[in-house]
Amino acid sequence: MNKYHILVNKDNPISMDYYNKEKLIKVKNVDNEVVLIDKKTYRYYLKLKKELKKSNIIIAISSAFRTIEHQEELYNEFLLKYGSDLTQKIVALPKTSEHHTGLAIDIVLKSMNYDIDYNTIFENEGEYLKIYKILPKYGFILRYPKNKEQITKYNYEPWHIRFVGKKLARKLFDNNITLEEYYQNELLK
Ligand code: DAL
Ligand code: ZN
Repeated sequence: MNKYHILVNKDNPISMDYYNKEKLIKVKNVDNEVVLIDKKTYRYYLKLKKELKKSNIIIAISSAFRTIEHQEELYNEFLLKYGSDLTQKIVALPKTSEHHTGLAIDIVLKSMNYDIDYNTIFENEGEYLKIYKILPKYGFILRYPKNKEQITKYNYEPWHIRFVGKKLARKLFDNNITLEEYYQNELLK
């Protein structure tokens, strides 16, 4: 199987084989911290960033690869802050996060002070909508789209993009389907 097509979700935790064999590179995030990411994913992210800059949309990486331990910390932090019901809709349990693949990126916008603020992000989502439209050109999909919450089991996340390669990204975009639906629908393969 193409490693860029991997499905990681609540029902499909990452295999330890995939996790242990990942080859990741070090890059800097928006806070100047070192983050790990898949090399090809980063290459295409840079192309996406370059095109967006031409339209004065400045993006940066907030988060990319996360270890299982990091995800556990994050989950517990959100649990304390938001309680169990909301946390389940916004943060994945350790081993079930796409961030373990190195193929997912949380992007932040200069126009939003490089912040993901759950209270204001949806009032200012215009730039995210513009980004969404050109994602397939660079092999990315928006992993948790609006109106697909019942399928992905997560709230809409305009910032979370996932590299799947150009061909699959275009197919998912043109058919308006998520990765879950793609795997459910044999006809599209
Ligand atoms: N926010 C996404 C679902 C994650 O924690 O992986
Ligand atoms: Zn994310």
